[in-house]
Amino acid sequence: MGKRLTDKVSWVGIVDWELETFHGREYSVDRGSTYNSYLVRAGKTALIDTVWTPFAKEFVDGLKREVDLGQIDYVVAQHSEADHSGALPLLMREIPDVPVYCTKNGMRFLKAQYHEDWNFVTVKTGDVLSLGEADLVFVEAPMLHWPDSMFTYMTGDEILFSNDAFGQHYATQSIYSDKVDRAELMAEAMKYYANILTPFSPLVTRKIDEVLSLGLPVQMICTSHGVIWKDDPMEIVEKYKQWADSYKENQITLVYDTMWDSTRHMAVAIAEGILSVDPAVTVKLLNGSIDDKNDIMTEVFRSKGILVGSSTVYNGLLHSIGGLLGMMKGLKFRGKAAAAFGSHGWSGEGVGLISAALKDAGFNVVDDGLKMLWNPDEEGLAECFRWGKEIARLMV
Ligand code: FEO
Repeated sequence: MGKRLTDKVSWVGIVDWELETFHGREYSVDRGSTYNSYLVRAGKTALIDTVWTPFAKEFVDGLKREVDLGQIDYVVAQHSEADHSGALPLLMREIPDVPVYCTKNGMRFLKAQYHEDWNFVTVKTGDVLSLGEADLVFVEAPMLHWPDSMFTYMTGDEILFSNDAFGQHYATQSIYSDKVDRAELMAEAMKYYANILTPFSPLVTRKIDEVLSLGLPVQMICTSHGVIWKDDPMEIVEKYKQWADSYKENQITLVYDTMWDSTRHMAVAIAEGILSVDPAVTVKLLNGSIDDKNDIMTEVFRSKGILVGSSTVYNGLLHSIGGLLGMMKGLKFRGKAAAAFGSHGWSGEGVGLISAALKDAGFNVVDDGLKMLWNPDEEGLAECFRWGKEIARLMV
């Protein structure tokens, strides 16, 4: 099972080709994932992270084929979330006295999840674990993406073990970033950033600047999900710097849901109005109850502006739009324009509710919104087209 990365470091993780969702049902997975674990044999032997709980036995059995478990001197738990710590209980039953290196929060969270009092050694930024032929230097990375997260830098081989940061839910047996389909890889890396790391963008910027200021050479970035960044490891670091900086492309995305097509007809006419003013802008229409919610969040992440539309139903919103607005608030997008639209037959609160939710989520709401009564007729569609032209000018 192990794959040799250098003379001293082997990948000993699990490739999960069948994964369909992650974080329960919160994150859709289209191309599987990996739970990366690394065995470092540099005089002393350290295991960095484990795998998700359902794979615990498979992982420990495979690890035994790679190394006599009695030879493991240290376990490094960079992050306590179950996809990396899930095999710890089974592993630690075999090696109960081996010290577990983690942050203070990591110890708290592991104890709270597994109710075990392992031989914890808590570390802070700058603490060093010497293996003899190389050192492991720990760097706390709180909120990237949990309060307990940390990175580990290995001297000699010059490897940054970054845990979730720079990861992707992307299954591959080929291990390295230059051995997989580039477009797929970058799409998955962006989806992962947009849906998991966007709320912490200011911290991403600060942490990257902090690590870069150390001037450490990096030959490889060994993440906990997906590929190892090897051919140009700093490429993904530069991407993260861009993504963390209120990222936007020349794109306006319309996210809507519709009961009897009136709001959809509005969306199409608005899109045509936008393009009549600015043919260069990418305009995408996504139906909140049909398109994947995480793909929608990724398109919002890419957009300079969004338009959110819903029919009014029972004085409120269609449930997909309500849920998506909740996701947008949680992801704390920054520097994006927005406005609301929608059709109604009776009371018509939808547009006002969307506008309020967009403001509450941190969007710059550039217009009071566009409401249509029942089905838009020719005149109504012309009004949508005109409003789209106005939006294009407001979202330059
Ligand atoms: Fe991959 Fe935050 O766990």
